[in-house]
Amino acid sequence: ICDTANDVAEWAAAYVKKRILDFAPGPDRYFTLGLPTGSTPLGMYRRLIRYYKDGELSFKYVKTFNMDEYVNLPRSHEESYHYYMFHNFFSHIDIDPSNAHLLDGNAPDLDAECQAFERSIREAGGIRLFIGGIGPDGHIAFNEPGSSLNSRTRVKTLAQETIDANSRFFGNDKSLVPTQALTVGVATVMDADTVMILVTGMAKAFALHKAIECGINHMWTVSAFQNHPQAFFIVDDDATAEL
Ligand code: GLP
Repeated sequence: ICDTANDVAEWAAAYVKKRILDFAPGPDRYFTLGLPTGSTPLGMYRRLIRYYKDGELSFKYVKTFNMDEYVNLPRSHEESYHYYMFHNFFSHIDIDPSNAHLLDGNAPDLDAECQAFERSIREAGGIRLFIGGIGPDGHIAFNEPGSSLNSRTRVKTLAQETIDANSRFFGNDKSLVPTQALTVGVATVMDADTVMILVTGMAKAFALHKAIECGINHMWTVSAFQNHPQAFFIVDDDATAEL
């Protein structure tokens, strides 16, 4: 538990840096990182860019896998997760864009796209550190309430609550929010060696309570990580209001 959201960002970035440096990546040894979007991780990305600019950290031998992407939103759209990742992170660091894996929500065959994504994670040797955020309804990535805890990367129809929450990014017009997304499954994230989940703000307090103090439940998909051998939450004081 950190005091503020800034402290959460600082802690998370320092942890990512330590994990990458401890691993000592190289040409035959890539560090694999699972990444989220949303407003919560922005501060962490800013600090990671700072580490890179200060010469303390390189992403040359890092492969990233993003959690999710909207279906049928052009890549160039400012709210696509593709745009978000390049705009907020990848364009500012030395990652080779071919090592930055993002689901393509405009692929002609979405099921094939999801299977190919799972395959590329396997081919990269699995994910060492998966970073996630949560929705106010306790979803991780786009694993909406009711998702199977054994789920894999697939197409998912968004819950009304998610559409409502994300409409703030679409000029508060709910009709502009895509209704479907591609998302890694709960089991995809469970496979990672370590899972780090960032939760900030009062609006997530009830979800955090459900995630860590109640039983494992597919209506609060983030609760699945109670069963993970190395999963932890980094939260600010506001997010603990219901604990
Ligand atoms: C979206 C994303 C999630 C993210 C959530 C929370 O639904 N699919 O991966 O965790 O938003 O976003 P924020 O951090 O903006 O609250």
